[in-house]
Amino acid sequence: MRTVRFPAASKEYDVIIGTGAVSVLGTEVKKLCPGAVKALIVSETNVAPLYLEKVREEIGKAGIETVDYVFEAGERSKGIEAVAAMWNRMAEAGFTRTDIVVGLGGGVTTDMAGFAAATFLRGINVIQVPTSLLAMVDASIGGKTGIDIAMGKNQVGAFWQPSVVIEDISFLKTLPDEVFTEGMGEVIKHAFIVDPVLLEKLERANGNIRDDEELLEDIVAMNVADKAGVVREDENDNGRRQILNYGHTIGHVIERDSGYTKPHGICVAKGMGIMIDACVRAGTLAASDAERMKDLLKLYKLPVSDDITPEAAVKGAMNDKKKRGGTISVILVNRIGEAEIKKMTPEDFMRFLSK
Ligand code: GLY
Repeated sequence: MRTVRFPAASKEYDVIIGTGAVSVLGTEVKKLCPGAVKALIVSETNVAPLYLEKVREEIGKAGIETVDYVFEAGERSKGIEAVAAMWNRMAEAGFTRTDIVVGLGGGVTTDMAGFAAATFLRGINVIQVPTSLLAMVDASIGGKTGIDIAMGKNQVGAFWQPSVVIEDISFLKTLPDEVFTEGMGEVIKHAFIVDPVLLEKLERANGNIRDDEELLEDIVAMNVADKAGVVREDENDNGRRQILNYGHTIGHVIERDSGYTKPHGICVAKGMGIMIDACVRAGTLAASDAERMKDLLKLYKLPVSDDITPEAAVKGAMNDKKKRGGTISVILVNRIGEAEIKKMTPEDFMRFLSK
């Protein structure tokens, strides 16, 4: 078990990673939220049958009474109705400002639990207990919380950092293969944008990391440290943090156009593949690096292309949060381990994507 410190400007906190890490949940809650007497545990229909009882028990050890809110698993639940139900559950149970929310699940859960905590009584503490690889390496850390609306993903939300994040690696055992694979999209993204050492480690592992808990702990910890290094410089996403959106500009459009039936990490991988090809065509990324990057995605069973047209990609991107004024902040990787933010007009972006 190990701890990575996450130094966001508004709040510094620990991310505790390891097999059996959930056993420190009660102690951490007692230490960090001494005034808490009630906790709302937010989870979903796939995760709750597996881990809700354990988490209830751990929080109970801290002398805290729990209530639950379990929603139907899936991105389609990520809306204002679910968050309003969480607010009502807390209000009915008489929650006060010292009480807490615990997010137990994947990215949809931790985003919504964080947003409910950020907004209830103008902000109460949230503890994140991610159960998917994607949530461990990305969604549950860094304080982005929110919901989707008809016009797009994560369009409403708040920056709200957790008090602690507990990442129990043994929870990954029950993850369906395809859900583990989509998490690898975000892992490989970190390797491409900031961490060539991680990239080499993933190449050496040759696609076989699922069954090695020690290696998994190592990889998750490297990812948390990578993200911490970026977020410490720019918590509110006005500058460097935008590099974490590599592959997302087009990925989000593919995801939204599928009615959220295509998994996020898969769409990000497709978005990265499209950006890799575009950088090679623009002459800024060496063909050998591009091949290495695409080979790594394929090694971890991720796609590297999509049939989205440049027109659809540009139109969709203009509705995204990554748009500022009339330009889109496009994230490029022209050397492995280095990302840059390039502002493009829709016309520039269209030219860049056109074959
Ligand atoms: N998932 C991207 C970020 O946290 O900024």
